[in-house]
Amino acid sequence: MLEQRAIALPGHEPAYRTGLGEAYFVDSLVVLDALPANRVNLAATSPPVAVQRKKEYGNREQVEYVNWLAEFARRVYRVLKTDGSFVLDLGGSCERGIPSRGHYNFRVPIKMCDELGFFLAEDVYGYNPSKLQGTIEWVNTRKIRAKDNGGAIPSNLLQIPNTESNGQYLNGCKATGAKQYPARFPVNPPEFFLRFLTEPGDVVLDILAGSNTTGSAAEGIERRWMAFEESREYIVSSGFRFLRKGVGSETMRAIYDDLAAGRPVDLSPYVAPAQMRLR
Ligand SMILES: C[S@@+](CC[C@H](N)C(=O)[O-])C[C@H]1O[C@@H](n2cnc3c(N)ncnc32)[C@H](O)[C@@H]1O
Repeated sequence: MLEQRAIALPGHEPAYRTGLGEAYFVDSLVVLDALPANRVNLAATSPPVAVQRKKEYGNREQVEYVNWLAEFARRVYRVLKTDGSFVLDLGGSCERGIPSRGHYNFRVPIKMCDELGFFLAEDVYGYNPSKLQGTIEWVNTRKIRAKDNGGAIPSNLLQIPNTESNGQYLNGCKATGAKQYPARFPVNPPEFFLRFLTEPGDVVLDILAGSNTTGSAAEGIERRWMAFEESREYIVSSGFRFLRKGVGSETMRAIYDDLAAGRPVDLSPYVAPAQMRLR
């Protein structure tokens, strides 16, 4: 039986809790200092992208972005266990007015290593075929940055076909009954890193939780979790992620109303058993 509460956050009641975690409607920069040191196995988060247009979830100008993010990283470092990890999902974006990529996604890890005590363990690139790698303005409209490939912007990820060896691997496993390596391809990025870097019962923290995909992935594979999010709107709807199939619309409405009104909700009676929810 796992201890329910990931870590107590003095002076704060979670917006909702499940069997394994708590989501808080808080400013991470404020509450991180209230957490005990050396307790978190994995902090995983995707910060707002540093784009030129401020989006509703708080994008920052690139010039201030690196320092802004470093303030979170400095606090995360204190709460991480000595063998803990910090996974940061850093997207890219273009500079204002010129066909050039921003540099912040390089500067952030360099600053974290040079000044904050982190070590860079790995950089991992995801491939989303429906996502543009640059702004359409420079490639397709002004045709300045790259050749127009019939409307397609080339991906920055080279895929090297590996079907031959994988196929044989799978055939061999089937033929012999050998266990297949489970993490050949991630179901989703949070779950991939959770399986990669933590064990069941470990504590996972997302300091910029948004819709709480990290907490949901953690719950699904029996990691304890904490989520911090400064938008009540995002916290409220994120609770739906945890509800098992079959929870009726009236119950959903009641949960929503309680969360929106700031009344703490215990979702554990409505949460699907671990493993089943992610499938
Ligand atoms: C890119 S989104 C995260 C998306 C999330 N990974 C998901 O799967 O939905 C970044 C989030 O950080 C939140 N945020 C920004 N500054 C914050 C702060 N100081 N404390 C807590 N949350 C913050 C924003 O409200 C936004 O929801």
